[in-house]
Amino acid sequence: MRPTTYNTFLVALFLSQFASSIPIQPSRGPDPGYAHPSNGICADYTIKEEITTTNQIWVYPPLANDFDVAQALANISSKEPSTGYQPLSGVVNVTKTYEIAGTFCTPKEKKGGKETIVLVATHGVGYDRRYWASSYMPEQYNFAQYALESGYSIFYYDRLGVGKSERISGYDNQAIIQAALLTKITEAIHNGAYTSDIKASKVALVGHSFGSILSSAVTSDRPDLVDALVLTGWAYPNDTDPAAFAPVFTPTVFASRLVSNTSGYGTGYLDFGDIYAHVQAFMHQPGYDIATAKYAYSISQPYGIAEFLSGRALNLQAADYKGSVLLAAGKYDVLLCGGDCADTFEGGVQDMVYPSASKIEPYVQPGAGHGGNFGTTALELYKTIVEFLDSEL
Ligand SMILES: *[C@@H]1O[C@H](CO)[C@@H](O)[C@H](O)[C@H]1NC(C)=O
Ligand SMILES: *[C@@H]1O[C@H](CO)[C@@H](O)[C@H](O)[C@H]1NC(C)=O
Ligand SMILES: *[C@@H]1O[C@H](CO)[C@@H](O)[C@H](O)[C@H]1NC(C)=O
Ligand SMILES: *[C@@H]1O[C@H](CO)[C@@H](O)[C@H](O)[C@H]1NC(C)=O
Repeated sequence: MRPTTYNTFLVALFLSQFASSIPIQPSRGPDPGYAHPSNGICADYTIKEEITTTNQIWVYPPLANDFDVAQALANISSKEPSTGYQPLSGVVNVTKTYEIAGTFCTPKEKKGGKETIVLVATHGVGYDRRYWASSYMPEQYNFAQYALESGYSIFYYDRLGVGKSERISGYDNQAIIQAALLTKITEAIHNGAYTSDIKASKVALVGHSFGSILSSAVTSDRPDLVDALVLTGWAYPNDTDPAAFAPVFTPTVFASRLVSNTSGYGTGYLDFGDIYAHVQAFMHQPGYDIATAKYAYSISQPYGIAEFLSGRALNLQAADYKGSVLLAAGKYDVLLCGGDCADTFEGGVQDMVYPSASKIEPYVQPGAGHGGNFGTTALELYKTIVEFLDSEL
């Protein structure tokens, strides 16, 4: 892909990610539990992996209050964010052990050896691993349960900073660290770790939104580790796609706030202003119902402010990845596609990102916004993913 296209794409991407972030109100009450899918034999893992990454350095003062947040979002939305607002500057090599909480499940009912194929699922911004394993109406909204029913094993985890994974400063929490952790975890799963008594024969990465960015980064860095790639909540706008402009104003539309002072997060973490901001980012009428939106909001999570801004340091171009790619986006995703992902897929930028892929299959999920797993057509998305894996692995 031409450098200009790539830069525009990444700027748009990380601005739009900003908008999609956000969650948790102080008054939301205790998080609903992390229930295991009923059709799985599951084990929870606390993973400790040491990695060395070249991190960017946050050079601005910490955000002191929501007036600072408002200004930071305005700064990010300004016409020349790359020259005017540069909160990350310089790099430092950091070697550190991080703690990640994850769940591995293998089907109770095996289907001809398919359980040795392990899906590694990475959630996006605004959620934790429960994005893949809803305890609300699991027969309709639980991807892990659907994958298990189809015979696959699945490992899904809380990204660094959220859920039950380690909290680190939101100014230090960067995409490059999370991508390196995903690479480590994927490699470890190939070597038999974190999968109970299953020895993985193949590994497929499944991402949503920011989790799709991280999964892409792994295929770029270590294509040998990935047998198939499923990117949901994901599309690549090109230079002339009007979607590339939408992110410029979206951050100010979604009312981000500092997380509650009592929540255990520092000031580097932001939250959805309210349930309506959450719905605006992830859903589209009439393709969701209010009870589901309330559940989704109840499990939503904050995001570290440096996560997005640092994402530009990731290399997503995967010239050497020879496996197949399913790209799945909600028809009405505003954050990625300016409200029409069919049109964005037609731009064909994905062919430049994965020039050696054996197959690139775009799929548009009817009726859905950015949060496909909580749309009324979630089962159609799951069916598409499983049929893709069945044919490719
Ligand atoms: C907004 O941007 C200006 C100009 O770069 C900077 O001086 C200021 O500190 C920024 N404020 C916040 C809260 O990010
Ligand atoms: C980080 O480590 C790499 C590889 O060892 C080295 O090339 C680079 O100069 C280091 N960067 C810094 C800022 O120390
Ligand atoms: C947040 O907590 C810190 C200390 O933990 C305290 O100094 C500060 O005043 C608190 N801020 C608010 C808005 O309550
Ligand atoms: C960009 O995508 C649009 C569809 O969204 C397409 O019509 C156009 O040809 C693409 N432009 C380039 C330069 O690829």
